[in-house]
Amino acid sequence: MSIAKPSIMYAVLLLVFSIMGCKQNKKESQSEMETVTTESEQNPIEETAFGEMPDGTKVKKFTLKNNVGMEVDVITYGGIITRWTAPDKQGEFEDIVLGFENLDQYLDGNPYFGALIGRYGNRIAGGQFSLDGETYKLATNDGDNHLHGGEKGFDKVVWQGEAKNTSKGAVLELTYTSKDGEEGYPGKLDVKVTYTLTDNNELDIQYEAVTDKSTVVNLTQHSYFNLSGQLSEPVLDHKIYLNADTYLPVDQGLIPTGEFREVVGTPFDFTESKSIGEEIDAQNEQLGLGGGYDHCWVLNETEKDLGLAASAHHPETGRFLEVYTNEPGIQFYSGNFLDGTLPSKTGGTYVKRSGFCLETQHYPDSPNQPDFPSVRLNPAETYSSRTIFKLSTK
Ligand code: GLA
Repeated sequence: MSIAKPSIMYAVLLLVFSIMGCKQNKKESQSEMETVTTESEQNPIEETAFGEMPDGTKVKKFTLKNNVGMEVDVITYGGIITRWTAPDKQGEFEDIVLGFENLDQYLDGNPYFGALIGRYGNRIAGGQFSLDGETYKLATNDGDNHLHGGEKGFDKVVWQGEAKNTSKGAVLELTYTSKDGEEGYPGKLDVKVTYTLTDNNELDIQYEAVTDKSTVVNLTQHSYFNLSGQLSEPVLDHKIYLNADTYLPVDQGLIPTGEFREVVGTPFDFTESKSIGEEIDAQNEQLGLGGGYDHCWVLNETEKDLGLAASAHHPETGRFLEVYTNEPGIQFYSGNFLDGTLPSKTGGTYVKRSGFCLETQHYPDSPNQPDFPSVRLNPAETYSSRTIFKLSTK
């Protein structure tokens, strides 16, 4: 007893001091908040190891958190978003993106789950293009065509990652230098992708690149969403809206024919939101070629720099995703190539159409299609592209 008493007093004193300390800290962070920081500052960005590449290069995982409970995990391999939690209308958080548990699974064959795509998101016909009279030959990794940057695109390289809290939220800056001639592309390309998670449940993605020789660039993000949180279930019940009156029909290799076709009266009309499954199996030549939706929609011009391009709603959980971009196109891909062979993070496997992608971008095959907006980047210019994925419920 005589020993216990002083230790109780000591504990009481400690408690008093620590309460005072907490108050003091709170005051400091509140006054800081008023000036430069958001509450995100209270959510340190976690950095953990995520395995090693076959050559020993270490891969890191960063966990971005905001002040309302959302978390986004990004690994430095491919800049891949491996996990992204979002609340349903009851406030229950679940992972809403397809992905894997560990690096080996990503290395074993990843259908671009969550990855950064470059140098060229989407296809380039015949795996070649000409610039200033010079023909550049790229890998043909999709039949006769080039897809998503080639054999070792930006989805398969290790980026440098630097995390920081800013007034806008938790930020991860990823940088990568692509050598002159890498995957056949001209020019040394310095690329920076910035992921910012805001307290409005937005993931703001900014892409920048500079080159030392004229080249072509078209970067995007290839997350597969399943807003139900049941990642192995088909997404056919999700309702999609696309702010596009026309889309780009494709040939058998999924290369745009060059035609801009009106969506009205076709299964490609998402100007009023409708479920993915509603017309996906309709008798339609273009749906047949894509095995479902795997096309680029031509976004209507909006008054804003960052216009609303698309949305997706999962009525049962209420999760609602909006996509804002300054890009002219969006590839809506309904996960047609998923075939139930890859293991899902939530058990089971990723069956056909268990995820959908909304890939903001310039149009496929632009380097060979003079009527499409240019994807050329010259020295002294800066490529810049921005897309915001915003989550809410309704
Ligand atoms: C893009 C393409 C699809 C497919 C997926 C990855 O969305 O348009 O055809 O290649 O990537 O499987």
